[in-house]
Amino acid sequence: MRLLIMGPPGAGKGSQAELIKKHFSFPHISTGDMFREAIAKKTPTGLLAKSYIDKGELVPDEVTIELVRGRLQEPDAEQGFLLDGFPRTIIQADMLEEILKENQIRIDLVINLVVEDEVLIKRISGRRICKSCGATYHVETKKPKVIDRCDECQGELFQRADDNEETVKNRLDVYYRQTEPLLSYYRKKGLLKNIDGEGSIEAIFAEIKAILGGI
Ligand code: AP5
Ligand code: MG
Repeated sequence: MRLLIMGPPGAGKGSQAELIKKHFSFPHISTGDMFREAIAKKTPTGLLAKSYIDKGELVPDEVTIELVRGRLQEPDAEQGFLLDGFPRTIIQADMLEEILKENQIRIDLVINLVVEDEVLIKRISGRRICKSCGATYHVETKKPKVIDRCDECQGELFQRADDNEETVKNRLDVYYRQTEPLLSYYRKKGLLKNIDGEGSIEAIFAEIKAILGGI
């Protein structure tokens, strides 16, 4: 199965993707995670991406598209994948179509998590991530058993550099201007499935599982 998971910053894309990956064994391809890895390794792509991510702006399309093109060619993506945070512009969506067409494959479903801005801001400001395995926590709604330590691997938890109030406001603004128009792009293709993203992580995943089971 080839899936996209969409929604504004903090909607729960990564949290649901972790569960989908465990349950269905698709590779989880998150452009945000790929950029953060490149930043940590200080690669040229990472250094370029950082200058945009720190401001809450999108990394230029040509850089992002090449990153995804390369990732989709890896053997684990042959049988299916879950793309999180890509595409984010109409140009990226058109390019994705072309890449898939070259390989005679297509997207099966686009899951869109619907969450109000007020909730998004609370989620993002309380998010913590494991430095070692990338697992996601929240200081109020998904507390680790030991403060600042990952339940899975005991790694140290940290706060993302772009999870500060000012950058978040811009990320939301950028989302509504550049990414939200993609919802009608995929609705017109009959691929869009809106899901209420304000229930519990488990309840949302149960709904996603039921939908994917029917495809
Ligand atoms: P990216 O990493 O994709 O960030 P984002 O889209 O802003 O989304 P987030 O990762 O912040 O949120 P999420 O929806 O994954 O929520 P999560 O599950 O963590 O991109 C970062 C940056 O990289 C971009 O700003 C851009 O600069 C660049 N970039 C990336 N892709 C790009 C592209 N294609 N083109 C150009 N630039 C690109 O959950 C958030 C918190 O809420 C967590 O603490 C979690 O525990 C909690 N939570 C989740 N679900 C629930 C729930 N149901 N109930 C209660 N709490 C919940
Ligand atoms: Mg994410």
